[in-house]
Amino acid sequence: MAKDFSEMEDSNRSSNLSIHEVSDPERRLWLRGGLGLSLGGLLGPAGAMGAMGAIGAMGAVGAVGSVSGCASGASGGGAGPVLGFAPLRVSVADRVVVPEGYTARVLAPWGEAVGIAGQMPAFKFDASNTAEEQAVQMGMHHDGIHYYALDGSRRGLLCLNQEYTDDALLHPDGQATWTLDKVKKAQAAHGITVIEIEQRPDGWQMVRPSRYARRITATTPFSIGGPAAGHVLMRTNADPAGLTVLGTIANCASGITPWGTYLSGEENWANYFTAADVPTAHERRWGINKASWYRWPEFDARFDTVRNPNEPNRFGWVVEVDPMDPNSTPAKRTALGRAAHEGAWVAATKDGRAVVYSGEDAIFEYIYKFVSRDKIQPASKGKTAAQANATLLDHGTLFVARFDADGTGRWLPLVHAAAPEQGPLHAARGFADQGEVVIKARQASDLLGATKMDRPEWLAIDPQSGWVYCTLTNNSQRGAPGRPGVDAANPRAQNTMGQIIRWKETGDFSGETFQWNHLLLAGDPANERAEAKGNIKGDPFAGPDTIAFDGRGVLWIGTDNSANSQGEFSRMGHNQLLACNPASGEVRRFLVGPARAEITGATWTPDGRTMFINIQHPGSGSPRDGSNPRQFSNWPDFNPTGRPRSATVVITRVDGGVIGA
Ligand code: FEO
Ligand code: CA
Ligand code: CA
Repeated sequence: MAKDFSEMEDSNRSSNLSIHEVSDPERRLWLRGGLGLSLGGLLGPAGAMGAMGAIGAMGAVGAVGSVSGCASGASGGGAGPVLGFAPLRVSVADRVVVPEGYTARVLAPWGEAVGIAGQMPAFKFDASNTAEEQAVQMGMHHDGIHYYALDGSRRGLLCLNQEYTDDALLHPDGQATWTLDKVKKAQAAHGITVIEIEQRPDGWQMVRPSRYARRITATTPFSIGGPAAGHVLMRTNADPAGLTVLGTIANCASGITPWGTYLSGEENWANYFTAADVPTAHERRWGINKASWYRWPEFDARFDTVRNPNEPNRFGWVVEVDPMDPNSTPAKRTALGRAAHEGAWVAATKDGRAVVYSGEDAIFEYIYKFVSRDKIQPASKGKTAAQANATLLDHGTLFVARFDADGTGRWLPLVHAAAPEQGPLHAARGFADQGEVVIKARQASDLLGATKMDRPEWLAIDPQSGWVYCTLTNNSQRGAPGRPGVDAANPRAQNTMGQIIRWKETGDFSGETFQWNHLLLAGDPANERAEAKGNIKGDPFAGPDTIAFDGRGVLWIGTDNSANSQGEFSRMGHNQLLACNPASGEVRRFLVGPARAEITGATWTPDGRTMFINIQHPGSGSPRDGSNPRQFSNWPDFNPTGRPRSATVVITRVDGGVIGA
């Protein structure tokens, strides 16, 4: 979702030192000068070995088709993958633009029936579909997405997130009136969706009906795994055991596991709740205020913390879904910590344990890593790999990142201490047990002195080199009076442009130290403000958000520049998708989206010849009373009485070749 600077969650008032306060300023200069360092020089043979270990373990359960096809060096040295298309110019057209020789076609927009047999209502362009109909249609505001092969690169499932709702478009009269039915429809438009698709002579189509078709919404039962399961802070009147939560919300980015499941992050969940006039300290640290963006509490007491004080503790988790089993119960994985999770991304250690990286998209918040206790199990004894690893993410160690100014970093363990002499996270400091540590992961990270980052969004793990990349989308408050100043990892005040940071673990993905640098600082060289110029080698952009590696080692970058082509961003046009050669740092603009949309999600068929992306929130910001839904965009239907719709878009080459090559 595009969060304007004025409405950014801004909850971290902790006094833990930023790294510029604890480190030597001269070392920071070394780092800034080292931004252009070749990764090949930083990677030793051990680094390459670590990456191969990850591929091997993932390959063992055969879930990561796009990884197994890697051939060329990305950041492990060498020239890296070829970018074989002519870069696009910026665009402000209300359409999707791709290079010559490519086609981009809408596959699955909001409101299309997902394909549940006997329940396939047509979309109504005046938005008059009911809540019950919405619950079996594509949700709103597509985000993270992944292709799961059923028949190689010809037929598969798409699992995707439906992040949030825009009430101005969801109902015929927007929020001009507000009713229980509207809340129910909004809740039905949230969550996660599974559809079946196949490539036919006339192109990719949804398969309907399909036995896999599924909607998971804001009211679908989830089990709770990990140390917060059954915790006193997770219990409510409706769920006195604290073991079952209704629904997932604010699902932003996605990741996949080597055992074939889908991970989704609950991001801006705090905005769904309302608190008392004076929120508690716990609520304040999590950005829960009197105001609710979505007006659900007016008809659903679950989202009113006065009446249900523990309900917010049941959101902010990474959730796991098995898209291959439509009858499976999705789960919230509390061992990975509670946060405004953008998403979660998995690597595997050489000895076969899962390592899950995650950040939280809020200014001055943190980056996390979880290392599983147990090894990834193969499918066996009648169990699928998903079933064999059903509790793998419930046991392990959670860490938070500290980026030091000398180009190294350390993972700080978020582990409960039984007594003060055993560690800082003990009962006297408000952490009664590990359940409370993960529920209050932000407060625990404050105490440990983790590094406050510029809004961590997506992560991506280079399958060849093992370097881990993270987009830091922006932070207009860095350096403002009373707020943290710049540091080596977040080196610009009033950082409206964002940066991409990357690190390599010491030894293996489970390493507790790492080395890091920046792939790039985003910006516009023509910008008059020195700190907004950036250092991109290639096409300018701002607001890096989605990143994902394709099978050739190209790092794809989707932007979410909230200001929509205004002011500092006026030369950048609409949000865009770029391809980056991580070995050289070259960036080329590949796709530009329609008006007021962000480009999010990126996934490929195993052969790399089809790419799926999501266009999210075209035409956002139209009047809240629904009076002019087409004010800014009418993509993709251009129906004279319709409205803009988020959609999954399928990209192919006219000659059938590999995307981007
Ligand atoms: Fe949902 Fe951080 O973007
Ligand atoms: Ca995002
Ligand atoms: Ca974003």
